[in-house]
Amino acid sequence: MEGVRKTFPGVVALDGVDFDLRTGEVHVLLGENGAGKSTLIKMLSGAYRPDGGRIFVDDTEARIHSAQDAERFGIATIYQEFNLVPDLSVAENIFLGRQPRRYGFIDRKKMQADAVELLARVGVDIDPRAQVRELGIARLQMVEIAKALSLDARILIMDEPTAVLTTGEVDKLFRIVRKLRTDGVGIVFITHHLEEIAALGDRVTVLRDGRSVQQVPADTPEDELVRLMVGRSIEQQYPRERGSSKKAAVPLLKVSGLTRNGTFHDVGFEVRAGEVVGLAGLVGAGRTEVARAVFGADPYDNGTVEVLGRTLPRHNVNAAMDAGIGLVPEDRKGQGLVLDATVQENLGLVTLRGATRAGFVDRAGQRRAADKISGQLKVRMAGLDQQVRTLSGGNQQKVVIGKWLLADSKVLILDEPTRGIDVGAKVEIYQLINELTASGHAVLMISSDLPEVLGMSDRILVMAKGRIAGELPAQEATQDAVMALAVKDVEGSRGH
Ligand SMILES: Nc1ncnc2c1ncn2[C@@H]1O[C@H](COP(=O)(O)OP(=O)(O)OP(=O)(O)O)[C@@H](O)[C@H]1O
Ligand SMILES: [Mg+2]
Repeated sequence: MEGVRKTFPGVVALDGVDFDLRTGEVHVLLGENGAGKSTLIKMLSGAYRPDGGRIFVDDTEARIHSAQDAERFGIATIYQEFNLVPDLSVAENIFLGRQPRRYGFIDRKKMQADAVELLARVGVDIDPRAQVRELGIARLQMVEIAKALSLDARILIMDEPTAVLTTGEVDKLFRIVRKLRTDGVGIVFITHHLEEIAALGDRVTVLRDGRSVQQVPADTPEDELVRLMVGRSIEQQYPRERGSSKKAAVPLLKVSGLTRNGTFHDVGFEVRAGEVVGLAGLVGAGRTEVARAVFGADPYDNGTVEVLGRTLPRHNVNAAMDAGIGLVPEDRKGQGLVLDATVQENLGLVTLRGATRAGFVDRAGQRRAADKISGQLKVRMAGLDQQVRTLSGGNQQKVVIGKWLLADSKVLILDEPTRGIDVGAKVEIYQLINELTASGHAVLMISSDLPEVLGMSDRILVMAKGRIAGELPAQEATQDAVMALAVKDVEGSRGH
């Protein structure tokens, strides 16, 4: 790619970017939220056309104006948001629009057999007849990769594939990517997890504000990568200040005996004013389910949720919000945002609810608040009136968090708050968490990012198989100690 440019109303997303990819390499694209990574790869996948610059495939100039064009050039893309059709089977998704035919009819037998072979190449055991909607995220990704293989892709683009994966799943993905590299595939890999770069990458191109600032080898030290990416060094990745134990006296949130049959059992804990309590565990341990039940978004069968000593009615989000609970959900696209509304409107969603009920809306005040929080979170946007749909992935996540920070909830539950957020912006979010707790709020933080849980929590609760497997004070918590509890077979300890 030579001097590629792309502008959107009010933003220069790419300002003359050069990028090259060799066969058999993993080329990492690194950059802050909104730096232009996704936009750059969309030029290769045919989703966007460049306003300027040229793209070459094998030294021949390539005009990639559609997904079909990209396919012809052997380019396959796995997007930040998946592209599969939930109601179709795995095999149908892999061969969508290209189903093998026999006498004019779709040859289902051949399609299944071909799908089995591709999935075997990826190294996963997925039934090709399964409906895509039944698969978890890791498996969806494997299906996307199988689909790319079926296209005989020579260029595979992966936009933050590890953001939604657990450690074990990441290892598996890396094995597949390494194998593809050995087969001569060129891979563009986008990630915000710096430790993955040396583990998997060959070269790194750093984008900043729509420009390629530098190309460096993948074994460049992490602090140097950070400096190139954000333009300064980061002294302290986890700025949590602990030890304000006086404030930690009042339990703001108390959960007792919370049970939903078949999902979580006898879950009990407290979160006190001024505390950050981490909720760790493997994916599927029931953490999100508990958070949603506490917030009233889902029902439960037994137990109680109390805020400041008052028991909340079950399955009632309004009552939970009135009592001062906020939830930043894991699935921001589905639950956190109105994509077609503006940044301002999204930021105001929770506060507006209170304001309209009080009988008046202070529009100027709302705008000031939105302006302040988007500034603190460094939301990269053309302005508060930009549609949230057109923000970069990480900036959308910042808006979800900002909305709840503005709501001034006494108890804020954060479910994977920094997923897809760049290293610099993470620190800003941690600092806002510090400010919240310093002013007497309480935070319950669900996170699969262990360094984050260890770095930011005052206490860590670990869930395993729907139960609280144990609690660790921050001083005693290590990755090993948390993992030991996370894989503990708590079923066996029942009745003690
Ligand atoms: N369709 C669009 N309309 C308007 N602006 C857009 C559009 N698509 C992208 N942008 C803007 O272009 C810039 C670059 O966005 P891009 O999605 O490429 O960032 P990114 O590097 O992938 O960030 P992230 O790490 O958050 O995913 C952002 O300022 C974004 O708001
Ligand atoms: Mg992106």
